[in-house]
Amino acid sequence: MNSHAFVTSEKLALFYAQLEKNKKLPGPLMPTLHDAQHLFGHIPLEIQKIISKELNESIAKINGVVTFYGNFSVTPKGKHIISVCLGTACYVRGSQNIMEALQDELKIKQGETSKDGEITLCATRCIGACGLAPVFSIDEHIHGNSNVQKAKQTLKEMKEAIHETK
Ligand code: FES
Repeated sequence: MNSHAFVTSEKLALFYAQLEKNKKLPGPLMPTLHDAQHLFGHIPLEIQKIISKELNESIAKINGVVTFYGNFSVTPKGKHIISVCLGTACYVRGSQNIMEALQDELKIKQGETSKDGEITLCATRCIGACGLAPVFSIDEHIHGNSNVQKAKQTLKEMKEAIHETK
C-alpha cells in the first residue's frame, strides 16, 4: 500500500510542530515515535528519516526501536484491528482456520490492511483468555468460543457497521 495516502501535508505540519515541542524533552525519541504512530497510523521510512535528521539520531537506531516495540509499525494499520490468537490453546481449537477464513473474506494476508484502510488483520500470541479458546479480538473487544462461522458473521456485521457510518 502507498504510505503517502496516510502522510498528508496537514499531518506533516502537525508532526513538525510536535517535533519542536519534543525536542525540549530530555528523551525526545519515544514521544516523537508515539506522535508519528498516532498521526500517520504507522512510521514509514520517510518519517524515520525526518526523525533521524531532526533529532540527530541514526536511522539504524530509529528503525531498531520502531521494529522492536509492538505498538509501532512500519506498515499502515487500519482503523480497526482484528487479531486472531494463534497461541497454543487457541491453535489446537482451530484458530488457524479462523485466520484463513478472515484472510479469504478480507482478501489480505495476516499483517496486511484492507485496501480501503479500514481493517488490519493480525496474528497474536496468547492474550490470556485461553478458557475461551479459540479467541480473536476486534479493537478492544474479545470474541471467545469462536469458530469460522461466527468469525465470518462478526466480520460481516463489522463491515456493515463501517459502511453505515460512511
Ligand atoms: S492461547 Fe489464545 S488466549 Fe491463550
